[in-house]
Amino acid sequence: MNVSDAVRGRRSIRDFLPDPIPESVLREIFDAARWAPSGSNVQAWKIIAVSGAERDAIIRMAQAKPEAGLASSDDFPIYPPNLWEPLRSRRFALAEDMYRALGIPRDDKPARLKQVARNFEFFGAPVGLFFVIDRRVAHGQWAHLGMLIQTVALLLEEHGLGCCMQEAWAAFRPELAQMFGLGSDEMVYCGMAVGRPDRSKPVNQFERTRISVDELAEFRGFVK
Ligand SMILES: Cc1cc2nc3c(=O)[nH]c(=O)nc-3n(C[C@H](O)[C@H](O)[C@H](O)COP(=O)(O)O)c2cc1C
Repeated sequence: MNVSDAVRGRRSIRDFLPDPIPESVLREIFDAARWAPSGSNVQAWKIIAVSGAERDAIIRMAQAKPEAGLASSDDFPIYPPNLWEPLRSRRFALAEDMYRALGIPRDDKPARLKQVARNFEFFGAPVGLFFVIDRRVAHGQWAHLGMLIQTVALLLEEHGLGCCMQEAWAAFRPELAQMFGLGSDEMVYCGMAVGRPDRSKPVNQFERTRISVDELAEFRGFVK
């Protein structure tokens, strides 16, 4: 698989087969992913991988507080309040496309909330990853962590696995920090559900959109 195939082939997987993923596979993936770049090579990152009983305990923790999963209330919100255009419309469009694939009508709030709660079962994935960052870092290190996360995602693709990045877990930062015994400056930035994709499910098939190259990039000084 070349890089373009991995980039184009990766999509968020929100329904998984239960097949377990061996630790050795994740070790191999992390061994490559640790070569992701970070500014000044500070590598201000850590991954916690959970499977089996540890995964199940996290799911139980989240299920015990269903209302908590709907709001992140710490100093590191996922989105700014009152998201502006065009970001707001893009977010709305994703939700519409996804719920349409799931056959959930716009006004069926309970069904939508049930789908949101699937985040906290890792969408059925056998493995959960948690990307940990130090609260004291600057914005740069948050961007660096993104490099690691996408690198992991592309390597999973190469291994025939799938993932869904999960900022939703931000809603449980204090609980996760406690369960993982994190230091007082450490926090979970986001989670990732990892496993073998169930390609038969429409939620893993709906067409995704992106802005065009002309919206994405400006080209200056090039000779046509
Ligand atoms: C950092 C990050 C966090 C995300 N968190 C969630 C999440 O909590 N739940 C979810 O269903 N999707 C989540 N997503 C997936 C995005 O919705 C998805 O990447 C986007 O719609 C583009 O679709 P694609 O990944 O299929 O290309 C997240 C994506 C990123 C990059």
